[in-house]
Amino acid sequence: SPSSPTTSLPAPPSPVILTQDELKKIAAYKAVEYVESGMVLGLGTGSTAKHAVNRIGELLRQGKLKNIIGIPTSKMTHEQAVSLGIPLSNLDSHPVVDLAIDGADEVDPYLNLVKGRGGSLLREKMVEGACRKFVVIVDESKLVKHLGGSGLAMPVEIVPFCWKFTAHRLQKLFEEAGCVAKLRTFGENEEPFVTDNKNYIVDLYFKKDIGNLKVASDAILRLAGVVEHGMFLDMATTVIVAGELGVTVKNK
Ligand code: 5RP
Repeated sequence: SPSSPTTSLPAPPSPVILTQDELKKIAAYKAVEYVESGMVLGLGTGSTAKHAVNRIGELLRQGKLKNIIGIPTSKMTHEQAVSLGIPLSNLDSHPVVDLAIDGADEVDPYLNLVKGRGGSLLREKMVEGACRKFVVIVDESKLVKHLGGSGLAMPVEIVPFCWKFTAHRLQKLFEEAGCVAKLRTFGENEEPFVTDNKNYIVDLYFKKDIGNLKVASDAILRLAGVVEHGMFLDMATTVIVAGELGVTVKNK
């Protein structure tokens, strides 16, 4: 009988658990489907964008894409693209970018982003601000309700000159949100992290909601000493999210 203890049923298929890196790769490959031959392409930076750049290199090698010109958003991506044989240029020669593909640290429901935990926010903002279409690729862990509300860093690139003064002013600016401003460092000796543009990064950590993002953005940019911040407001045209249940494409 069906309830007999000796009845053996086939084991249900075990669920496939994808790693975070596999999810990043799925989002990246989906984004590369937007790439067409002849495009000027903004090449993002980070562990998710790296998969997209690899895929573009692969399609070029296979002859499935032709006449691509890449505009890298960091020295690291520049080196990766060179190693893959992707022809490169810059914004001086190609001020209009057809499509940029890049990762993000946070994505809110309106497709506003936090970027720059990898330290490349200035070049990313320049390239992605010059593109007709900006496709963001993330795994589902990057989705947030409010930017800066995850307790993780909101990066601000600042000039090294009197950085403590600038960090203090940034912290004061968001005093009501319980902001703590920390210089980004690396290594045991806590050397300042230096960006591709020879600047420093101050990471802002908030205890409370920072309120209106545009107001916050303007206030940060008004401070002398600030070069750029990691809020990318109203820039993404598409966000591709890879999760355990599949891929979601959100369009602006
Ligand atoms: C670098 C960035 C990256 O896009 C962002 O940090 C996401 O990185 P990852 O794909 O490694 O999670 O803004 O400045």
